[in-house]
Amino acid sequence: MLTGKLALVTGAGGGIGRAVCQLLAEAGAKIMAADCNHTAAKETISLLANNDHMARRMDVSDSQDVKAAFDNIQSKYYKPPEVVVNAAGIVRDNFLLKISEEDFQKVFDVNVKGTFLVTKKACEVLVDIGAAGSIINISSVVAKRGNIGQCNYASSKAAVETFTKCVAREMADYNIRCNVVLPGFIATTMTNEIPEKVKNMFKSMIPMKRFGTPEEVAQMIKFLASDESSYITGSSFYVSGGIE
Ligand SMILES: NC(=O)c1ccc[n+]([C@@H]2O[C@H](COP(=O)([O-])OP(=O)(O)OC[C@H]3O[C@@H](n4cnc5c(N)ncnc54)[C@H](O)[C@@H]3O)[C@@H](O)[C@H]2O)c1
Repeated sequence: MLTGKLALVTGAGGGIGRAVCQLLAEAGAKIMAADCNHTAAKETISLLANNDHMARRMDVSDSQDVKAAFDNIQSKYYKPPEVVVNAAGIVRDNFLLKISEEDFQKVFDVNVKGTFLVTKKACEVLVDIGAAGSIINISSVVAKRGNIGQCNYASSKAAVETFTKCVAREMADYNIRCNVVLPGFIATTMTNEIPEKVKNMFKSMIPMKRFGTPEEVAQMIKFLASDESSYITGSSFYVSGGIE
């Protein structure tokens, strides 16, 4: 399904990013696992079957880091990644009346600017050589519904969805697709710290009455990465157990 493709996955040391690396590698892709936590990215690579993958420390919100990672890919694989999954993301939750300017900005720097920097660089290098590509961004159901304590995160994820639609329109002529996945509540480090009482409240709101797994999100991303989704661009996909 993805044999011969090269995939750059950001946030590759985290729950969803790691599951994406595993599924894409099983489908035949070579993986560049990038994360600001290099150890976690290396752990991800150690879980993959063959050894033609690589891990790299990269802060997606730093344009120099992003450029260096793409240079590194070019020198190792002699081509740009045809698949890019922007899975790096952070939360800095707080109520509007308490949230600091710094925590508001930090979330936008990673979630929005990070997605922009990586997507822009990927498109530049693909357009340069006339290659097709598929970019998959990660938004969230909270982009649609808002969430108490997440004015920074939810609005950053709304920006990621709209950004995706702009990229899809501009890049369609170059045969570069760009789609966005909106996970609901997924069991990863990001949701680990939610108190049990609040988790149960969220579960009661989800039609399927449970959190999703990173693999369930990764399955959708694998489909969007592959040519099986060749006529899909600018689209949003819920992976949320029915919550919108
Ligand atoms: N878990 C959920 O319920 C859920 C729901 C909706 C959307 N999402 C989104 O899915 C994506 C993956 O989240 P996850 O649940 O796997 O979280 P996670 O915390 O397990 O993983 C996030 C990864 O991103 C990395 N990261 C953070 N800042 C970075 C930076 N500046 N540069 C590079 N890497 C950075 C972290 O080191 C971590 O490995 C995120 O964009 C998140 O917002 C998660």
